[in-house]
Amino acid sequence: MSTVLVVGADRGIAHCISLQLKERGDDVIAACMVGNDELVAAGVRVEGGVDVTSQESVDTLVAKLEADGVSLDSVFHVAGVLGLDDLGSIDYDDFRRQIEINTIGPLRTVEAVRGLLHEGSKVGILTSRVGSLTDNTSGGMYAYRVSKAAANMVVLNLHHDLAKQGISVLALHPGMVATDLTKDYPGDYDYITPEQAAAGLISDVDGLTPENAGRFQHSNGTYLPW
Ligand SMILES: NC(=O)c1ccc[n+]([C@@H]2O[C@H](COP(=O)([O-])OP(=O)(O)OC[C@H]3O[C@@H](n4cnc5c(N)ncnc54)[C@H](OP(=O)(O)O)[C@@H]3O)[C@@H](O)[C@H]2O)c1
Repeated sequence: MSTVLVVGADRGIAHCISLQLKERGDDVIAACMVGNDELVAAGVRVEGGVDVTSQESVDTLVAKLEADGVSLDSVFHVAGVLGLDDLGSIDYDDFRRQIEINTIGPLRTVEAVRGLLHEGSKVGILTSRVGSLTDNTSGGMYAYRVSKAAANMVVLNLHHDLAKQGISVLALHPGMVATDLTKDYPGDYDYITPEQAAAGLISDVDGLTPENAGRFQHSNGTYLPW
């Protein structure tokens, strides 16, 4: 049985990851903005009031976990937002919000929880394929692409720094997943369910080792270019 922290678990993919990990017997701590009755009913430890843009809220979470002697085997940082913009209609306040949540959020969280990690711990951070420099063949979505490309750099940096302590870090792309996040996403895609994405992401992190860390992996198991 592993002890796992899932961040951003009010709904969507993180919610499903929390339920699936609990179902298989892991000890799950779900960090939520508000909280979630379904997770509580499933026996998940739910910590509400965790906003990854707030240092105070992240520090409060860590202090509680420290006080309880929690040692984390894995962390899934899933919290994220998507704002659709285009050249000519960029909202720079929203751009900063996306950077704050999608880029600084995972860094703030992992920096804060690193004292709860140990040799052999694993950290999976949800970025996005649209943050791949190589994969960008269409333009658009400035804020989201930039925030996720920078999040990929956060992952690679964390990998180099935390590998020294035997901690493995991975960037994760869930696939095109039917959640609230993608309901207004333009174009036709074959969406997978959040349950399918969660299962693939759990499998990716299960397979994460010091040897294959520092890479960018799809929930279908394949590796993506930075
Ligand atoms: N869905 C896709 O196709 C897709 C594709 C590529 C990458 N991703 C990435 O996968 C992750 C999860 O996406 P999703 O589809 O599950 O989205 P979602 O259904 O919109 O869920 C996003 C989650 O993030 C939480 N959140 C937002 N801002 C937060 C903050 N400041 N602090 C803490 N939690 C916060 C939300 O909480 P509230 O409910 O309180 O707002 C919600 O629980 C995101 O990072 C997204 O960029 C998704």
